[in-house]
Amino acid sequence: MTVTSHQSGPATSTPQYIAHWVCKTARREQMIKWYQLAFDAEIVHIDKTIAFLAWDGESHRLALVKLPNWLRFLFPLSKLRRKLYGFDHIALAFGSLEGLLGAYVRLRDRGIKPVWCINHGLTTSIYFEDPDGNRLEFQVDNFDTPEETKRYFSTEAFAKNPIGVNFDPEYLLDRLCSGVPPRELMQQGAGTPPGQKVIGNMKAINWRTL
Ligand SMILES: [Fe+2]
Repeated sequence: MTVTSHQSGPATSTPQYIAHWVCKTARREQMIKWYQLAFDAEIVHIDKTIAFLAWDGESHRLALVKLPNWLRFLFPLSKLRRKLYGFDHIALAFGSLEGLLGAYVRLRDRGIKPVWCINHGLTTSIYFEDPDGNRLEFQVDNFDTPEETKRYFSTEAFAKNPIGVNFDPEYLLDRLCSGVPPRELMQQGAGTPPGQKVIGNMKAINWRTL
């Protein structure tokens, strides 16, 4: 699932893009601070029951509905739920690998570490979790057009490894800063440091990345 930006278009009878999502939370202040750090989010409205946040051209991207504080003790259970059943994550697209790794650096320098870095073949993706355990995938398409990306589903590479290959974001960043072309760095394995084992497909899934 990918959120795209606001755009005018033909009057089709299917939705055009994902406009926003809403989370009920018992740790609203912590969540607002996290989204301010991670997204440079602006609070467009806040009252005692709901807060609306924006960070791009959309009027609001995220609403946080305030629940009683004591409900936060259910948080470990909600995190467990995500790992096992139902809605898993939302993906947010970047226009370039430089943008994606720029976000990685911004979050890293603000103390937010990714939970998973993987080249899915289709996308180069860095996953984060907000304080309630909602998972957000920051991604860049590995191909120039959605059609090319879509074709990847029909390849032997995808049939053999539909999950992808883990990468080390620091190593990828070093390579980018040393002038390696982004297209080369968006190949699976390009983010595995020399001497380290390539971890991919089902081996990339563990309790942390699940
Ligand atoms: Fe995804």
